[in-house]
Amino acid sequence: IGNRPLAGQKILITAGPTREPLDPVRYMTNHSSGKMGYALAEAAAEKGAEVTLISGPVTLEQPANIKNYIRVGTANEMFSAVKDNLANQDIVIKSAAVSDYRPKTYEDKKIKKGSGDLNLTLTRNPDILQWIGKHKNDNQIIVGFAAETNDVMENGINKLKKKNMDIIIINDVTRADAGFGTDTNCVTLIDKKGNKKDYPVMPKKELAHVIFDYITHDYSDSITR
Ligand code: PMT
Repeated sequence: IGNRPLAGQKILITAGPTREPLDPVRYMTNHSSGKMGYALAEAAAEKGAEVTLISGPVTLEQPANIKNYIRVGTANEMFSAVKDNLANQDIVIKSAAVSDYRPKTYEDKKIKKGSGDLNLTLTRNPDILQWIGKHKNDNQIIVGFAAETNDVMENGINKLKKKNMDIIIINDVTRADAGFGTDTNCVTLIDKKGNKKDYPVMPKKELAHVIFDYITHDYSDSITR
């Protein structure tokens, strides 16, 4: 297969933040820029995969080599787009930073300021990756990310198990050269067999290729699925 090791593979990637509206002018979100997910999507397409990219609101443009490109706003919209596209995917990579909560009520008129505090009630969003972990078939490889600020390894490994992933990529988002918004990332990859790789800081575009090399070589060689 040469330099197209993912030829014939269907890969679903989610990228970017979600945006949870509160009223017509305000929303809750996070610092994800989409750079990690877009780098993965571009790398997968370069390696010959048929890529579907589901993206939250980012300033990045649709990558030229990705035709199946879906823009969403909220976590619920991302969830429906994932469900609509999950069948027949060989690999799913969830690099999106999905909001765990959304404002419980959406006010259709701008909330006026009063003199005192304003209390907001938040309600849980669906956990998309956990749902995928429950509904995946045995041949699908599910890759999640973990953005952690403390007890980085422990929290990451717990997520791998809880969400039934095959591989987790853990980034310590307190580092200046890793995580949200940066052009570089520094991650530890752990798979469900317990194999662990610590990678040095590198550009997200390079890391994307390293992750696919891991999936196509090390992981596929070592795993009995
Ligand atoms: O976009 P960039 O600026 O390049 O930044 C990249 C990144 C830091 C966002 C990325 O590398 C990353 O870590 N993405 C996952 C962020 C995250 O939401 O982590 P988490 O630990 O909260 O969630 C764990 C996993 O569950 C993730 O794969 C996430 O997509 C998924 N999840 C989380 C919550 C939820 N409601 N549904 C989900 O599917």
